[in-house]
Amino acid sequence: MNAINKLRVLVLLWIVVPTLAIANTEIHLDKFPVTLEKDNASLQRGAKLFTDKCLACHSATYMRYSRLHDIGMNDAQVKKEIAVPEDGQIYSKMQSAMDANSAKLAYGVVPPDLSVIARARGADWLYTYLRTFYVDASRASGWNNTTFPNVGMPFVMSDLQGEQVLEVEKHEGHEVKKLVMKTPGSMTPAQYDSAMVDLTNYLVFMGDPGEKNRHQYGYIVLGFLLLLLALVYALKQEIWKDIK
Ligand code: HEC
Repeated sequence: MNAINKLRVLVLLWIVVPTLAIANTEIHLDKFPVTLEKDNASLQRGAKLFTDKCLACHSATYMRYSRLHDIGMNDAQVKKEIAVPEDGQIYSKMQSAMDANSAKLAYGVVPPDLSVIARARGADWLYTYLRTFYVDASRASGWNNTTFPNVGMPFVMSDLQGEQVLEVEKHEGHEVKKLVMKTPGSMTPAQYDSAMVDLTNYLVFMGDPGEKNRHQYGYIVLGFLLLLLALVYALKQEIWKDIK
């Protein structure tokens, strides 16, 4: 095989192999309803869920409690509604309650920092993942997940969503997997979905907390430049009016 042909084969493999890998993953992702993206009430509910339910194991070390100002909470609200740790201050980082070694012992893996998880996984993936845990006695934690098969994370929101089981039906030779609610939780499916919209919303916010302010500054800067344009244009007319 000459060099050009080798190159052709390499380029072909480079294109085909990743395509096959993508085609093989059968996981269906539900669409995250992005319309609520900038909704402060939703972000605040999400922040509360996050600090109540997730900080026990995960950290968000790029995030300080004080950044919750950006979603419309003042210091008093943050201290009252969000569980700021006793030794923590409003400017503390969101640290996990659990140290990495004990987490590794308990779950086999260290729970990853969630500061920028929305950037790595995307909102659709997170919104789906948080709703697809099911009971699986073969797993050490007792839980599995159809979006992240064999995940090491125990489902910490089963009190809210309830307990789902996986049912596999055979349809004309191929298997169809379905999650079925076995024991309902304290929320209806619609309430739980909406709580997961809030939580995903908050995870997306954490990935880029300055986004909202940046957009506002963008409009102010553009407004200023337009004003400047008008002034400079008027000045130019004034200077040139006698030189024609
Ligand atoms: C009891 C400890 C524990 C709690 C509480 C917990 N998790 Fe986890 N989580 C884990 C562990 C352990 C993993 C790593 C799983 C693996 O890699 O197999 C994980 C993985 C994840 C992942 C996947 C990360 C990746 O690799 O892409 C996400 C997303 C996540 N958790 C979100 C959450 C959210 C949101 C909450 C709060 C509702 C939460 N977790 C609460 C233990 C926990």
